[in-house]
Amino acid sequence: MTTPIDALRNNVSAPFDEARAMPPAVYTSDAFHDAEVENVFKTSWFCVGRASALAKSGDYVTCELAGQPIIVLRDKNNTLRAYSNVCRHRMSTLLHGRGNTKTIVCPYHAWTYNLDGSLRGAPAMNGNKAFCKNHYSLPDIRCEDWLGWVFISLNPDARPVAEELSEVADLVDGYDMTNYTETFFEEHLWDTNWKVLAENFMESYHLPVCHAGTIGGLSKLDEMICPPGRKAFNYHTILKDESLRIAMAHPSNDRLEGEERRTTYLLAIYPSLLITLTPGYFWYLSLHPKGPGQVQIRFGGGMSDDYKDDAEAQQHLIDLKTLLDEVNVEDRGCTEKVYRGLSAEGATPGHLSHLERPNYDFAQYLMSRMDPSFQPVSASGD
Ligand code: FES
Ligand SMILES: [Fe+2]
Repeated sequence: MTTPIDALRNNVSAPFDEARAMPPAVYTSDAFHDAEVENVFKTSWFCVGRASALAKSGDYVTCELAGQPIIVLRDKNNTLRAYSNVCRHRMSTLLHGRGNTKTIVCPYHAWTYNLDGSLRGAPAMNGNKAFCKNHYSLPDIRCEDWLGWVFISLNPDARPVAEELSEVADLVDGYDMTNYTETFFEEHLWDTNWKVLAENFMESYHLPVCHAGTIGGLSKLDEMICPPGRKAFNYHTILKDESLRIAMAHPSNDRLEGEERRTTYLLAIYPSLLITLTPGYFWYLSLHPKGPGQVQIRFGGGMSDDYKDDAEAQQHLIDLKTLLDEVNVEDRGCTEKVYRGLSAEGATPGHLSHLERPNYDFAQYLMSRMDPSFQPVSASGD
């Protein structure tokens, strides 16, 4: 019997101009999901959001990475830190959602931890002779800030994010990603596989149809450029016109020139950080699977600081967020329909358009995570 990994291996052996969509079992099988948690999410960097959302000491966010509940916070020294979000007493989770706190108090019996992870105090523990509070602290998890993005990893051997993603930094250097501030953040759960949503982001082929009710009419297939992917990411670009002023470089922006002043980059940083980066605003999705058929979505965005004194532009961003919410409803409809179709007996992958080049590269990447000896057909770069 062919395993889902063998089915993928067979699928990615085709050259791009003969390629097909990935086989259904890659999306729907428990075995492939388990292999992804092990080989992708346990070993890679995962983005929890923007550093600007953790600006003050005590600001925290929580997440789950490959089954591990994790706290990311800014400590008293203004350093971003990540810890296991599991109490050292009887192992309750500690913090939930996001917020600001001076200490981490367990909701079960109030063992209390400092922002450096050390145990500050524990009520009524003086009767246990073996207990010593200095022996307890929350285990550290790797955490790095790269161009304003906060990443965590469970892999002690993962290369530093700045090394891993240096090609991304070079590609969008003129946009200066540190220069964008998050003004909205939401979490959602959709009934589709995380890769269906990631792939939906990677191609703008669906825009005229899936988004006919919103942005579809503005999307020109012949203005989409889909270069071959790189080892750690893929991208494509689209051009926006003056009708969306906040997608243009601000007049004071002297970092971008020519067409780049109206170019939107759609960056898919593996495994699951998807960034729409325009010269004026950005939004992103950071995805984590919750089983084969559900995806946990971290969704945030905001504007370039070039626009921060421009009240009219700030209002435009609020209008844009309303539009993005409508676009997301359309994407949810399309990606949940794809998952239902993929789950059907007899679902068979069809050929890819040249506008789905990033999807092809993503499949190659995925296979390389499942089998380190696999040599991707296409990826260039280090
Ligand atoms: S489980 Fe946390 S204080 Fe008891
Ligand atoms: Fe879409």
